[in-house]
Amino acid sequence: MTTAAVVLAAGQGTRFKSDRAKVLHAAAGRSMLRWVLEALRPLALERIVVVIGHQGEDVAAEAESAGIPALVTVRQEHQNGTGHAVRMVSEAGVLDGIDDVLVVPGDAPLLTTDVLAALLDGHRDRAASVTLLTTQLADPTGYGRVLRNGDAIAGVVEERDATDAERAITEVNTSMYVFDVEALRPALQALTTDNAQGEEYLTDVVGPLASAGATTVSAPAEVVAGVNDRSQLAAAASELRRRILNDHMVAGVTIVDPSSTYVGAEVRIEPDATLLPGTHLEGATAIGAGAAIGPDSRLVDATVEAGATVTYSVVLEASVGPRASVGPFAYLRPRARLEQRAKVGAFVEMKNSTVGEGSKVPHLSYVGDTTIGRDANIGAATVTVNYDGFNKHRTVIGDGARVGSDTMLVAPVTVGDHAYTGAGSVITKDVPPGALAVERTEQRIIEGYAERHRARSTRDSADGQGKA
Ligand code: UD1
Ligand code: CA
Repeated sequence: MTTAAVVLAAGQGTRFKSDRAKVLHAAAGRSMLRWVLEALRPLALERIVVVIGHQGEDVAAEAESAGIPALVTVRQEHQNGTGHAVRMVSEAGVLDGIDDVLVVPGDAPLLTTDVLAALLDGHRDRAASVTLLTTQLADPTGYGRVLRNGDAIAGVVEERDATDAERAITEVNTSMYVFDVEALRPALQALTTDNAQGEEYLTDVVGPLASAGATTVSAPAEVVAGVNDRSQLAAAASELRRRILNDHMVAGVTIVDPSSTYVGAEVRIEPDATLLPGTHLEGATAIGAGAAIGPDSRLVDATVEAGATVTYSVVLEASVGPRASVGPFAYLRPRARLEQRAKVGAFVEMKNSTVGEGSKVPHLSYVGDTTIGRDANIGAATVTVNYDGFNKHRTVIGDGARVGSDTMLVAPVTVGDHAYTGAGSVITKDVPPGALAVERTEQRIIEGYAERHRARSTRDSADGQGKA
C-alpha cells in the first residue's frame, strides 16, 4: 500500500490582508506550512506534494527548507478551488503508482501526527473510497457541513451553498481526507464550478464517492482548526505554545509562569533549567541543565550552558558558558561568547568578543571585537573603541589584566597579561605584560579656591553686578 499526502497551500488567504502568503505566517516560531509538514514527517509517506500558487516561490522555498526528501511541489496557476488544486496534482502525474492520498490544508498548524495516523488507519480498516476527518463545533460558521443519511455519509455542503437546515449541522469538514486514488480521479474530472464561489470544490467529490463507501474519523476541534485570519492565528499560536511548554515541563524544565513564557518550536532545554516570567526563547536557542533564564529576557539563536544565569537581558546569536552570568540589563550581540564562570553585568553591550574563564565585565561597558583572557577584570564604563570610521579593529586583553574604570581602549591594541590601566586613560599603545599604563594629565591642586570664589561673588553683588 503506497500513500502520498497533498498539502493545499496555493491560496492567498484574503482574510489575512497580507502581502505574504497565509501559510508562511508563523505561530510559535514556525510557519503554518512547516507545522503541517512536521505533523506529516513521522508518517514517512511515499510522497508529500505541496500545492503552490500565490507567492509560489516563497512557499516552495519554505516547504523545501523542511528537508523532507519525499517532498515535491506542484504549481496551481489559478486558484480555482480546493478540488481544482487536487486535480492539478493528479494531472501532474505525482499520484501515479499511489494507492491512497491524504489531503490536508496548509493552514492547519495544530494538526498532530496522531490524528493523521488515526485517519489513515480508519480509512484502511474500512477499505473506504473516502474517509473524512470531521469535528463537532458549537459554532460551525464558515465550515463545510457534513451531510448524513442516517449514519451514512451523503456529502459535504459549503456554508455559502447550504440551506438554513444544513447550516444548523454542527459536524463539520476539517478539509482533511484520505481518498482511494483510483476512485478519486474520475470524481475530480467530473467537478464543476456550479456553486456560490464559482470554484471546483474538493468537497463535491464526497457525495459521488459516498456510494462506493465513505466513512469518517472524528477529532477534537483544537487539533483540526483552520486559521483564516490573524485572530485565529494568535489563538493557534497560544495553543501551540501551551503544548510546547507542557512538553518541556514533562521533560523536567521548571516554568514559573507559562502564561508569560514564550518558547519557540525549535528551542532545546535540558532538565532542571528554570524559566522565570517574561522569558522569550526563539530560533535555535539551547538552554543547559540547571540554567536560569529571566525574568524578562529575550534569547534568539542563543546557547546557554549548564548552571548559567541570564537576568533581564537580550542575547542574540551569542553563547554563555557553564555557570557564567549575564545581566541584569546586558545586551549580547552576535558572536559574543562568555567562557565558564565569566560575568557580564549591568548595562554592558558586547558583540563578536570572548570573555575568558572567570573574567568579569561588571558595569556600563561596550566590548566589541575583543578577546579577554582568563580572570581579568574590566572596570566600570570601559569602552573598546573598535571603529575608526572605516574599519573595525580588535582589542586583546590578557589573562589577569586589570582595566581601570572609564578606560578607552583604542583598537587595535593589546593589554598584556596581568597588566593594569589607570582609570580614565585613553590607551592607544600596547601595554606590556605586568605594566601599568596611565594616560591623563597630572592632577593640579589650587588651594583656597573656594574661599576666593566666594569673596569674589560677594564683591560683585555689592557693586550691583550680581549674577545675570
Ligand atoms: C475548506 C473546505 C470546507 C472546510 C474548511 C476547513 C472546500 C471547498 N471547503 O474551506 O469544507 O470546512 O476548508 O478549514 O474545500 N487552496 C488551494 N488552492 C485553491 C484554493 C484553496 O491550494 O484553489 C488551499 C488554501 O491555500 C488553504 C486550503 O486550500 O490552505 C483551504 O482553502 P480555504 O480557502 O481556506 O478553504 P475554506 O473556505 O476554509
Ligand atoms: Ca481554511
